[in-house]
Amino acid sequence: MSTTTFKNPRAKHNFQGRSCSITSVGSYVPQKTLTNADLEKMVDTTDEWIVTRTGIRERHVAAEAEYTSDLAAQAALRAMKNGNITPEQIDLIIVATITPDMLFPATACLVQQKIGAKRAAAFDIEAACSGFIYALEVGQQFIMSRTYETVLVIGAEKLSSIIDWGDRNTCVLFGDGAGAAILQHRPDAHGLLTACMGADGSQAELLCMPGGGSRCPATVESVQAKLHHLRMDGKETFKNAVMAMQTAGTEALKRCELDITQIKYVIPHQANRRIIDAVAERLNAKPEQVFVNLDKHGNTSAASVAIALDEAVQSGRIQRGDLVLMVVFGAGLTWAAAVIEW
Ligand code: ACO
Repeated sequence: MSTTTFKNPRAKHNFQGRSCSITSVGSYVPQKTLTNADLEKMVDTTDEWIVTRTGIRERHVAAEAEYTSDLAAQAALRAMKNGNITPEQIDLIIVATITPDMLFPATACLVQQKIGAKRAAAFDIEAACSGFIYALEVGQQFIMSRTYETVLVIGAEKLSSIIDWGDRNTCVLFGDGAGAAILQHRPDAHGLLTACMGADGSQAELLCMPGGGSRCPATVESVQAKLHHLRMDGKETFKNAVMAMQTAGTEALKRCELDITQIKYVIPHQANRRIIDAVAERLNAKPEQVFVNLDKHGNTSAASVAIALDEAVQSGRIQRGDLVLMVVFGAGLTWAAAVIEW
């Protein structure tokens, strides 16, 4: 039984006796790894630069015929196994991704077929690296309103498919993978205590993929101009990331009337070690409170905190009853933070 008490009614999530918990998690990363030494052979970079400027040592890269929906389905099956959830139990699948298998239909529909969740409704949401927390908050609404009993939320990316492998500014940063969570009402726990989200569309151009949408459909010229690859102003993105993650994290704690010392783990978006350290310092988190797996995965965008949460749970670092703060930031610009009692 939970022993933590919260004064904030929203934090109790006591909506007519209803709360929303993450009842199980799972993750999957492709077998193939690309090390910094491998990248040294592809672009003008060094292991030393990548490690000191980002903290990344290697990242996983999907096989050519392995798509975002495959990574998502594998993560989902692991979360379902960990929670003893059958495909028939799943009412809704939400996939957060910026690298869908196709522009349409939704990757969530392809996942539905792959995991055999025939009863489930399915849709995607797109909030870049903030996508998993956005999806958790959306999924939670269906549980709290009693619309659904079991919601499967997945963050999944095959970023290797939109990377310009000749651009050293971006190709060293990203990796592929997926993380999944099962959301249900669990009477004995507070569950997802709060999630706050934000966006600033005025800075959309800082981090985007210009081609492939209605503004710039694919043409020979657009492909030659490399408009179908991720583009980023790294320095500006960095500054915005630190500020937004600090603000979102502080707001989430405030809403729950929690102090950072009560948090067992902070799980920040895994984009850059220097961003993580700056955010941790501004939130007054001790280094041992901060979960980092960036060295092994790079930035997996919407999958980032989902994979990290699964690794923290499976390794026993997060135990039932622990309080966890997740903070994320991504293209949009978007940002979000969530506090969960595990
Ligand atoms: N190897 C060697 N040199 C490099 C590399 C590389 N891989 N990449 C860049 N450089 C060079 C640059 O060309 C530049 O050289 P110059 O001074 O001769 O022009 C120099 O290194 C410094 O470049 P900066 O951009 O100043 O490097 P910085 O310290 O800012 O680090 C980085 C760049 C890692 C991209 C950083 O800015 C960053 O992490 N930004 C945030 C990324 C992020 O948070 N993204 C989150 C959202 S992702 C999403 O939503 C999908």
